[in-house]
Amino acid sequence: MTELKNLDPAKLPRHVAIIMDGNGRWAKKRGMPRTFGHKAGVEALREIIKMSDELGIEALTVYAFSTENWKRSADEVGALMGLLLEYFTKELEELHRKNVRIRILGDIDGMPKGTERQQQALHKAIERTQNNTGLLLNIALNYGGQQEIVRAARILAEQTAQGSLKPEEITPERFASELYTHDEPEVDLIIRTSGELRLSNFLLWQCAYAEFYITDTLWPDFDREAYLTALQAFAGRNRRFGGV
Ligand code: FPP
Repeated sequence: MTELKNLDPAKLPRHVAIIMDGNGRWAKKRGMPRTFGHKAGVEALREIIKMSDELGIEALTVYAFSTENWKRSADEVGALMGLLLEYFTKELEELHRKNVRIRILGDIDGMPKGTERQQQALHKAIERTQNNTGLLLNIALNYGGQQEIVRAARILAEQTAQGSLKPEEITPERFASELYTHDEPEVDLIIRTSGELRLSNFLLWQCAYAEFYITDTLWPDFDREAYLTALQAFAGRNRRFGGV
């Protein structure tokens, strides 16, 4: 069994990103509605946040809801929004106590009508934890990687049009400074559960040099042991960043 103490702290990722996939299949295998899988997914997430905090990982980014997920049935969207509200209402104080800083990647105010309570809860969570100095927890919500890049391009285009920015001043660093993750380390490790080999519009810029770890484990089954195995695999990677 992989043990926490066997992990070399120097070989831990600074920033871990996770595509929490497979909730629906997990529920189906049990003859239960998809929502049941999402509920179990929240439990799995709680444990991974706890462990990331214990390990001293700087940033954890999880894909909770994409700009495309609104296409799911009204029932499923409603259930996910319900879980989200419950999570941010019930867990906020506990996260705050743990010195976790919550950030939302995505367009909160662009969420559809009927999600006002969720929007309020998200703004409150950001505000409440903004001065915390522990784990940075990014929740990607109403998020798309292409949308994030276009948003940054528009900000820079406006500055260029106004004359406050010269085109030649647009460098990768300047560009990255307009992303939701502006002051964060790039993603070192991206984990996708349930075996799909896709990026699904997640952190397209930030994953430029990320190490991929794909596991067949469905998200609700992704426990401490599974996370340790992923971290162990990362520790054994030889990262070259384009060099030799
Ligand atoms: C993908 O599984 C999962 C999602 C689209 C939602 C992830 C959300 C959570 C784990 C819980 C909500 C988060 C918070 C912060 C409260 P899927 O439904 O696509 O599974 P499938 O591919 O098996 O159908």
